[in-house]
Amino acid sequence: MPVKITENVNWVGVIDWNIRDFHGYRTDRGSTYNSYLLRGEKIALIDAVKAPFADDLLGKVDRAVGLTNVDYVVSNHAEPDHSGSLPRVLEACPQATLVCDKKGVDIIGGYYDLDLSAAQVVGTGDTLDLGGRSLSFLEVPMVHWPDSMVSYCPEEKILFSSDSFGQHYASSYRFDDAGDVGTILEEAKTYYANIVMLYGKQIAKALAAAAELDIEMICPAHGSIWREHVADILAAYTDWVTCRPRAKVVIVYSSMWHSTEAMARALAHGATRDGVTVKLFDIAASSRTVLATETLDTAVLAVGSPTLNKTLMPDIAGLLTYLKGLAPRNKLGMAFGSYGWAPNGPNDVNAYLADMKLDILREPLTCNWRPTQEFLAECREVGASLADAALKAEANSEAYQP
Ligand code: FEO
Repeated sequence: MPVKITENVNWVGVIDWNIRDFHGYRTDRGSTYNSYLLRGEKIALIDAVKAPFADDLLGKVDRAVGLTNVDYVVSNHAEPDHSGSLPRVLEACPQATLVCDKKGVDIIGGYYDLDLSAAQVVGTGDTLDLGGRSLSFLEVPMVHWPDSMVSYCPEEKILFSSDSFGQHYASSYRFDDAGDVGTILEEAKTYYANIVMLYGKQIAKALAAAAELDIEMICPAHGSIWREHVADILAAYTDWVTCRPRAKVVIVYSSMWHSTEAMARALAHGATRDGVTVKLFDIAASSRTVLATETLDTAVLAVGSPTLNKTLMPDIAGLLTYLKGLAPRNKLGMAFGSYGWAPNGPNDVNAYLADMKLDILREPLTCNWRPTQEFLAECREVGASLADAALKAEANSEAYQP
């Protein structure tokens, strides 16, 4: 059923309870594709949903206002999780004008066989007057596609924020204050880390523009609506745009015969102290989604791999390739690992970390065959130095830039 958000706004989106993989992002709590109806004298549908859910969306729109009464379909972002049902929506609402930015026309035209000649192209500063209600548009290119924009309704003080501030989170509740806000913030962090971390500079600009708006509610395209915790999610984003480092040491490793694992455990042992969060991950038991999220706010990322076939372990290479794409900033890095006849594994990890533009704390920590007790003591000392570096990074983190 449509859900009343305010007297003039309805949620008509869908809940995708069972999605578990969003092109590689593990969505263990499912997702939602949020669409909203904004009703003035004219009616706008803001964003559509993924293609398989078109009937669900259209049924809700029909119950709320009647399909033939929709005057505008606003596409803030044309990725198919929002645009997939657009052809069905435009067919069911033939009188509706599609509203999107110029890049949106290109992308929608690239995906769908639609006549877009009548589309209303808008850009930053443009306003759509619905009579009693209006939408003003702000383009936020590369947050996280070229066409991305957000729409603001000044009469409702609502920001329809598209992917920004979203969460892959299926819930029967629509508002942040109805569900568990800790979980919602956790999912917002996971979303940020895995979808938009690489666009911190652009998001910082968008946050600056949003700061000029009087916002009482943020209606994202995924997950819960921010109503009681608007300040909390804005503050969190302000930290995340710089990947603000906390006094935290994340140690990830892959191991063949437990030598690299023993090094990882000794590093974690040495780093452990009050005031420093230490997290240890065997990559075989971890998802890239979780590791990217842990990377977002860590100060130190220590990555271990033995040598396999003259290079690093492929699971570690996969993680580092993923993280390189997400471009975490303001991080310290260290490579470690064991080897038999050539330390290529840890050395190649080091090369990846340097390529990711992490500040390398020291040369790779390497161990030939098995670590001795003396060597593990050295690993603990190195771990203590990682904790020192993490505390220092957090102390300086206010000054960091996106
Ligand atoms: Fe939710 Fe970028 O699509």
